[in-house]
Amino acid sequence: MAGPDVKVNAEIRDLTRIERIGAHSHIRGLGLDDALEARAVSQGMVGQTKARKAAGVILKMIQDGKIAGRGVLLAGQPGTGKTAIAMGMAKALGEETPFAMMAASEIFSLEMSKTEALTQAFRKAIGVRIKEETEIIEGEVVEVEVDRPEGGSVSKTGKLTLKTTEMETIYDLGQKMIEALAREKVQAGDVIAIDKASGKITKLGRSFARSRDYDAMGPSTKFVQCPEGELQKRKEVVHVVTLHEIDVINSRTQGFLALFSGDTGEIRPEVREQIDAKVAEWREEGKAEIVPGVIFIDEVHMLDIECFSFLNRALENDMAPVLVVATNRGITKIRGTNYRSPHGIPIDLLDRLLIISTDPYSEREMRLILDIRCEEEDVEMTDDARELLTKIAHETSLRYAIQLITAASMVCLRRKGAEVDIDDISRVYSLFVDVKRSTQYLIEYQEQFMFNEGVRADLGAD
Ligand SMILES: Nc1ncnc2c1ncn2[C@@H]1O[C@H](COP(=O)(O)OP(=O)(O)OP(=O)(O)O)[C@@H](O)[C@H]1O
Ligand SMILES: [Mg+2]
Repeated sequence: MAGPDVKVNAEIRDLTRIERIGAHSHIRGLGLDDALEARAVSQGMVGQTKARKAAGVILKMIQDGKIAGRGVLLAGQPGTGKTAIAMGMAKALGEETPFAMMAASEIFSLEMSKTEALTQAFRKAIGVRIKEETEIIEGEVVEVEVDRPEGGSVSKTGKLTLKTTEMETIYDLGQKMIEALAREKVQAGDVIAIDKASGKITKLGRSFARSRDYDAMGPSTKFVQCPEGELQKRKEVVHVVTLHEIDVINSRTQGFLALFSGDTGEIRPEVREQIDAKVAEWREEGKAEIVPGVIFIDEVHMLDIECFSFLNRALENDMAPVLVVATNRGITKIRGTNYRSPHGIPIDLLDRLLIISTDPYSEREMRLILDIRCEEEDVEMTDDARELLTKIAHETSLRYAIQLITAASMVCLRRKGAEVDIDDISRVYSLFVDVKRSTQYLIEYQEQFMFNEGVRADLGAD
């Protein structure tokens, strides 16, 4: 494809981009208007307008190719939408720009060194847009004719007649093309494209002119126009693959199947060096461009000092993506040291980050988020029940209230109710305790638990 030694493969891309569903599945973007102002409720997003706008500004700069190697910190209390905003950024970025996401704690559980894990994450966030010009033959099949081999000759020959609205040409067929046509079950009336270099045949659909021959096709048949103009065309194809994908495909020990299992192991530095050199060459020849994406590291306070210095260095690379990190920690120890620092992040890294802070939600905003979650989970709920749930969210936490939705709908289902009612909410509220009540319980019964340190009663009071 793009070079003799370094393989790329665009098709695997769709398969490796697995959508996460769950807590944030209702988020479809940042919900901004063209002027980058946050709409009150849009694309599953509610409130937190300043932070969303700030995230939007960063996003715009990424899309315009204006920034790379910058860092952003989302800081705020638990449940204030930091992860949600990062997911919104990912959705808004679109397919072309890579977005790699990880929780900081993941690097301690992978079977590879911490720096290797981070290197992989960084390279997942760097895309390479590769341009290729290919010559294709595109037309509607008039006739496929295969000669019966006579006397002793094993290899078949034949003829393929293709037409556009303006011309018709007969091509001689060799053994390989005949097999390929048979494999694709190409017949008269199909519109096909043949890649001249590789001989690869792609069926584009059935010609509209044939839409009356009902028997020959199933319900999924796609109809297309007979192509216009010349049969031979030059076509530019562009695809974006990430450096990580190129690494894995070219890693002799792994092979691209590893991309499906995610079990990529460590990649040898020589492989990366070779790929970087090749990509640099493509860039010089104008065949490829770098597309810096976003790497999102959630719960960033879980990284240790070695990882933080890795990040410092990695951001200075000229192909660096934009680093987005999130934390809910205040002033706390930097992991791997005895020093304390804001958000548990060393000052020298903090200094490189733009900080976006998130604020707690009002009761009204919580209600709107809960409404969106009910819809997302397909749960019907009465107004009174929603009111109660909002009160619970306000007094305990938004997350706890969100979790009650599914539980309450199960209870409702059990009693064969149509809509979740106040009683269903109260029921699950008593079945599952929130943190505050759980702490209260621990304090009251601490004698009965193991390892108790004599918790004071004010802990957990807020
Ligand atoms: N502005 C918002 N609009 C819509 N949904 C939101 C918004 N903020 C938060 N949510 C939803 O509320 C839940 C909690 O938010 P989220 O996980 O983003 O909080 P967080 O700030 O990352 O918290 P933590 O610090 O504990 O990681 C999620 O399900 C999230 O999708
Ligand atoms: Mg979070």
